[in-house]
Amino acid sequence: MRSCVIGSGSYVPERVVTNADLERMVGTSDAWIMERTGIRERRAAAEGERTSDLAAHAARRALEMAGVRPEDVDLIVLGTVTPDQPTPATAALVQAKLGARRALAFDVSAACAGALVALSVADQYVRSGAARYALVIGADLLTRAVDWTDRNTCVLFGDAAGALLLAPAADDEGRGLLSTHLHSDGALAGILSIPHGDTVKMNGREVFRVAVRTLVAAAQEALHANGLAREQVDHVMGHQANLRIIEAVMERVGLPMERFWLTLDRYGNTSAAAIPMCIDEANRAGRLAPGELVLMLAAGAGFVWGSGVMRW
Ligand code: UT7
Repeated sequence: MRSCVIGSGSYVPERVVTNADLERMVGTSDAWIMERTGIRERRAAAEGERTSDLAAHAARRALEMAGVRPEDVDLIVLGTVTPDQPTPATAALVQAKLGARRALAFDVSAACAGALVALSVADQYVRSGAARYALVIGADLLTRAVDWTDRNTCVLFGDAAGALLLAPAADDEGRGLLSTHLHSDGALAGILSIPHGDTVKMNGREVFRVAVRTLVAAAQEALHANGLAREQVDHVMGHQANLRIIEAVMERVGLPMERFWLTLDRYGNTSAAAIPMCIDEANRAGRLAPGELVLMLAAGAGFVWGSGVMRW
């Protein structure tokens, strides 16, 4: 039995950091950031606000939408590279905040692909019958993991969380998650990392190049595996780090930019949060019609990349 999304939620902290704010902090300009990345502003968590807080807000919204009680959740899988602490898992802290007493809760570490990997894991549980209600969360608080004097990285990231509640799909409708395809290449670990006790270290140009290559390959693999023509894709919900990366990928795959759900301009690179946040925004805006095809794409540190295809 396939899994499908029955509820979605997202959350961003209140504090807005604009490009003008950054001009006052490092040697940058609104023009450079807009032209090279497409980011206009991003959010930064308040002091004391942690990844588990963002995640719990998003998860509550997903549960409310679905009308499912926290105590009925069987599984919480949370993608993050900015956990509250090394252990216990941030998912366990979210479980306690929600009061999801029966759930098994654990984290996955797959950086910007975190929510996609979490989705593929939760999908296995739901498909096998091991879980009925599974919460998939992507949450990152990267403003705490960047060096605010390094203009190469501090302008790029924002804090956010997104959550999807999965449940078994009704058999006869052909809806739900059709596929996930995920890959890793640890030989590329050095191009993007957060060394122990340190801040984000990135070879921007190399990450850019690898991101375009892997995202295009991921899109093509997803279409091929499902026997889909690109015209059949109604929405692309992707991780988003740079508008130029997205444009290059959409062009090479042969999809118009209008099909890509953009949050980058408003929230920056939100790492694991982006895909569930996009789905939630589109869902709440009434922009996802039953039967429409959603292509999910992500690539990030690891390197980890891949796709998911969902019939809404
Ligand atoms: O989630 C996945 C993680 N991240 C990504 O996918 C990011 C992928 N990479 C990128 O998005 C781009 O490589 C960046 C946005 C990070 C950088 O853009 P770029 O066009 O590749 O710029 P660059 O690194 O080649 O730097 C060009 C110039 C350099 O100056 P010089 O050496 O030519 O004098 C940089 O020092 O731009 C300078 N620069 C800046 N200038 C103003 C770098 N950052 C800034 C900045 N403001 N914030």
